[in-house]
Amino acid sequence: MRKSPQSSGGLRVTKKVLGLALALGLTLGLGACDRGVDGRAIERQAEGEWLSYGRTYDEQRFSPLDEVNRETVGKLGLAWHAEFDTDRGQEATPIVHDGVLYTTTAWSKVYAFDAKTGKLLWAYDPKVPGEKGFDACCDVVNRGVAIWKDKVYVGALDGRLIALDKKTGKPAWSIQTTDAKKPYTITGAPRVVKGKVLIGNAGAEYPVRGYMSAYDADDGKMLWRFHFTPNPTGQADGAASDKAFKDFAAKTWGEGAWKLGGGGATPWDAITYDPKVDLIFVGTGNAGPWNDDIRSDTGDNLFATSIVALKPDTGEYVWHYQTTPRDAWDYDAVQHLMAADIAVGNETRRVVMQANKNGFFYVLDARTGKLLSAEKFIPANWAERVDLATGRPVEAPFARYGGEKVSTQIPGALGGHNWQPMAYSPKERLVYIPASTGRGGFGDPEKFEYLEGAWNTGMGGGRRPPPQPKQKGGQSPQAAVALPPPLEHPRGELVAWDPSTQKARWRVPFKESWRSGVLATGGDLVFHAVGREFVAFDATTGKRLWAYDTQAPAIAPAATYAIDGEQYVALMVGYGGAGGMGGDQPRRRGRLLVFKLGGTAKAPLYPAAVQQASLDLASAETPGGDIARGAARYGQLCGQCHGQGGYLPNLARSPAILSRDGFSAIVLGGALKERGMASFARFLKPEEVEDVRAFLLQQAKADAAAAAPKPPQELDHAR
Ligand code: HEC
Repeated sequence: MRKSPQSSGGLRVTKKVLGLALALGLTLGLGACDRGVDGRAIERQAEGEWLSYGRTYDEQRFSPLDEVNRETVGKLGLAWHAEFDTDRGQEATPIVHDGVLYTTTAWSKVYAFDAKTGKLLWAYDPKVPGEKGFDACCDVVNRGVAIWKDKVYVGALDGRLIALDKKTGKPAWSIQTTDAKKPYTITGAPRVVKGKVLIGNAGAEYPVRGYMSAYDADDGKMLWRFHFTPNPTGQADGAASDKAFKDFAAKTWGEGAWKLGGGGATPWDAITYDPKVDLIFVGTGNAGPWNDDIRSDTGDNLFATSIVALKPDTGEYVWHYQTTPRDAWDYDAVQHLMAADIAVGNETRRVVMQANKNGFFYVLDARTGKLLSAEKFIPANWAERVDLATGRPVEAPFARYGGEKVSTQIPGALGGHNWQPMAYSPKERLVYIPASTGRGGFGDPEKFEYLEGAWNTGMGGGRRPPPQPKQKGGQSPQAAVALPPPLEHPRGELVAWDPSTQKARWRVPFKESWRSGVLATGGDLVFHAVGREFVAFDATTGKRLWAYDTQAPAIAPAATYAIDGEQYVALMVGYGGAGGMGGDQPRRRGRLLVFKLGGTAKAPLYPAAVQQASLDLASAETPGGDIARGAARYGQLCGQCHGQGGYLPNLARSPAILSRDGFSAIVLGGALKERGMASFARFLKPEEVEDVRAFLLQQAKADAAAAAPKPPQELDHAR
C-alpha cells in the first residue's frame, strides 16, 4: 500500500478502499491501535516484539533487531531491573507486546511491567500451595506466559491453566488440566495456535501419565487431548490419541510397573507450531520408571522420548520419531524443537531440529518426520551412531543395565542439552546450543518398591556387588567393554552447530555445566549467561564481546525488543531447576535485568551469602533409628532436593536434625510446607523418620570429620 493507488491506474480512494488499507495496515502491525496478538501477528512478528515463547511459532529465538551489535555492544548497560519475592529457579522467557513485558517467576507468579521504564503494571499470584513443591522433580519453576488477544495465559505448578486479563491481571478463567490428586505439575509455557491454548504437564519421575491438551483461548473449554502412553486399564480414553494407540502404539508396551503410575512421557517443555506445514511438534519426556526392565517387559514404549507431530485443529496424530527407543537413562525428547528451512544435500528442506538430552542433534523432515540426519554435538557414548535406514540408535554394548550389571555413561540424566532453549541465526545458518557433559550411573535397585505419589525411578546400585574381575590372560572380562573415560568435572560448551553439515563451526568451553538458554540477534550477537556473567558472543566467531556481572547465575534465555527506536535485552536471573538443585550456588532472589545501549542503572548488591554452620553434634538427641534403612528412605524421598552440595538446605548441616521432635515437626508435621517442604506423613511412619535422622546424623559426623568446605547457603524468608 505504500505506492500511491491513484498513480497505479484507476483505483479510486473510496471509503471501502480506505477501510481495506486500514485493515491491512493493522494486520501488518502498522496500526497504532492494539487489537491484541493473534496467529498472524505471531507469524509476521513486528521487529520490536517478542510475542510467543520462542518469539516466532517456529521458535528460532532470533530477533532481527540490530541496534545492539558487534560495534555497539560495549555500551550495553542496565536500563532497569526488578526484584522478586522468591529465591527458587527462574526459567521464564519474557513476552513483550505493545510496550508491556510479561514474565513469570518460580511458583507460577505472573508480572506485567512497562517494558521501557520497568514500572510494575500488575502482578498475579496463583497461590500454589507450598507442599505442591514435592511434586516438582526439578524445582518449582515456570517458563513463562502466552498472550492472545486480550488475555495472558499461565500454566500453574498445581496443574491449573489460568487466563488473565491482559490489562489488569485479573483472572478471566481457570481450568484444572490435571487430576489434582496426582503428582502432576506444569512448568512449561503455554502456546496459542489457531485460538487454542496448548499445555502439557510434568511428573514422569513419579510417574504420571503424560498428555497434552488444547483449550479454547476465549473460555477455557477443552477441545482435544493427546495421551503419550496407553491407558493402563486397556480402555480407550475418548481422546485424539485413541487411534494411534489402537493402531500401533499400545503394543509397544508390555506388562510392568508402568501400569502403576501411567508410564511418564510427559510433554513438559517443547511445543512448536509450524504454520508452513500446519503441524504442532511436541517433545515427550522419559518413560517411568526409568528402569526399563521394571517398567515394561517388552517394546519401545511409544510415545515416550519422542517427537510427535499433531494437527492443531483436532490433535490428530500425523507422525512420530522416537529418539531413544525403550529409554532407560532419563533421556527425554522434550528439548527445544525448532523449525527452519535449511540446506540438506542440494535442496532446501523444511525441518524440525532438536539437540536431544542423549547427545544427538536430530534433523527431521517437518512434513513426514523422516530422519534426515543425526550426529553427536557433545560426547555421548551410550550409542555409536544413529542408523539412518532404521532411524534407531546403535547402542553401545555396556549401555543397558540389569541384575548386577551397572552402566555408567555419557551424557548423564541432566543430558547433553536440557530445557535451556537454543537459538538459530538465519544469517549465520547456525544453531547455538547450550550444551553440557556429565556422566550418569544406572543400575537395578536391590528390590523395587512402588511408593505411590513419590519418585519411582527404579534406580539402584545394581542387585549384587559386581564380581571381582577374574584375571584371564591378564585381561578382565570387563576390560573388553569400553567404559566412558572419567570426566574431571561436569562441563559445558556453547556450540555453534551447522545443521546442514552436522558439524560445529565453533565451540566455547565452560567449567559450568548448568547455564542459561540462548538468544541470537540481527546484530550478529549470541547472548548466553554463564556462571554469574551475562555474555554477548560474536555469532560468527564465538569471540566474547561483552559481559555483565549478574551477581547470581541465570539459567533462563534472554529476549530482546524495541520501543521508540531503542533496543532492550531482558534476562531473568535466578539459579535453580534440576541442575541448580544439585549445584553449588547460594540462593538469590530472582531478578529481571533489562539492558539498553547507554543504560546506567545499577542493581543493588545481594546480601552476603550465609554459610550453613557446622552442627554442635554433642547436643544431638540420640536417634532411635537404623542408618541403613534411613539411607534408603533418604535416597528415595529426600536426596533429589536436599542432595549434598545442593541448592536446598544440606540436611547434614541442618539444626533440625538434632532433635527428634523438631525434625518430626518438619518432616511429618509439615511445619515448613508453605516454603515448599511438604509433610511426608503419607510416606513415612514416625520410626522411619528416626531412621532418616539417624542416617543424617551419621552424615553430619562424616561431614564434621572431613570438614570439607561446603557451598554457602543463604537462608532468607523468600520461598
Ligand atoms: C521436593 C523437594 C523436597 C524434598 C523431596 C524434600 N524436601 Fe525438605 N525441604 C524442601 C524445601 C523447599 C525446604 C525449605 C527450604 C527453605 O526454603 O529454607 C525444605 C526444608 C527441610 C528441612 C529444614 C531444613 C533447615 O535447616 O531449614 C528439613 C529438616 C527437611 N527439609 C527434611 C526433609 C526430609 C527428611 C526429606 C525426605 C523425607 C525432605 N526434606 C525431602 C524441599 C524438599
